[in-house]
Amino acid sequence: MTNSQQNRKNIPFIKESKGKRKLVMLTAYTSSIANHIDPYVDIILVGDSLGMVIYGFSDTLSVSLDMMIAHGAAVSRSSKNACVIVDMPFGSYQESKSQAFRNAARILSETKASGVKLEGGEEMAETIYFLNKRGIPVMGHIGLMPQKFNISGGFKAIGPNQHVIDNIVSEAIALEQSGAFALVLECVAESIGKKVTEAVNIPVIGIGASSDCDGQVLVVDDILGMNTSFSLKFVKTYANLGENIQHAAKCFAEEVRAGVFPDKENYFFSKR
Ligand code: KIV
Repeated sequence: MTNSQQNRKNIPFIKESKGKRKLVMLTAYTSSIANHIDPYVDIILVGDSLGMVIYGFSDTLSVSLDMMIAHGAAVSRSSKNACVIVDMPFGSYQESKSQAFRNAARILSETKASGVKLEGGEEMAETIYFLNKRGIPVMGHIGLMPQKFNISGGFKAIGPNQHVIDNIVSEAIALEQSGAFALVLECVAESIGKKVTEAVNIPVIGIGASSDCDGQVLVVDDILGMNTSFSLKFVKTYANLGENIQHAAKCFAEEVRAGVFPDKENYFFSKR
């Protein structure tokens, strides 16, 4: 085990955080962002949202295992504090327990991440048990599940009707019983966030699921203000990098066109 792995927040730390401290999780897909956020977060999630954020797809279904492995490895190499979790992409785990094991094992061995995340509740419980018993820590993901948007008819928040609440609570309990070390709860009514968090003894990390959850996760590009085309109700923007990038590109273009850049100070050999 390398020093950087020894000092990382690990799965037992994440699990025992329930009721003691709020967990902070952000996505990262690249080496530079991982390096910048690493000191401040408990978990870096290499989410399959990279399909939309990095590759410009309209959903996550086209993301491949190789993409997740390449980005997961970059994030692990460039972080030393946070627990790194990599999403299993659509089609890489639903077919059978052995397919899930083979692909999750590739993720752990090729990226050095500490665990994987996969979408689904009761229907994935047997698979999660199988993986966990064989050394692969799994974070569950229920509520809005982007990989199932063809079934749900879109990316829709889940409202607080009693039947839905009971259903999501039993999905969460099934995940806990299967050995999941934590779960993501996405885009549900506040009352569901509270009920699910109270119902299980593993950390519930919310995204649009209320402050009652044991932790919060957001997509890093969203908090950085990189996405200038639409806004999401559950996102808070802490920087305006999109505008800064546009400004920097505009200034560079103007200076190149005006012959102002490069200046003598940018030359290797001429004296000022
Ligand atoms: O893929 C992702 O980024 C996620 C988070 C939004 C939880 O699953």
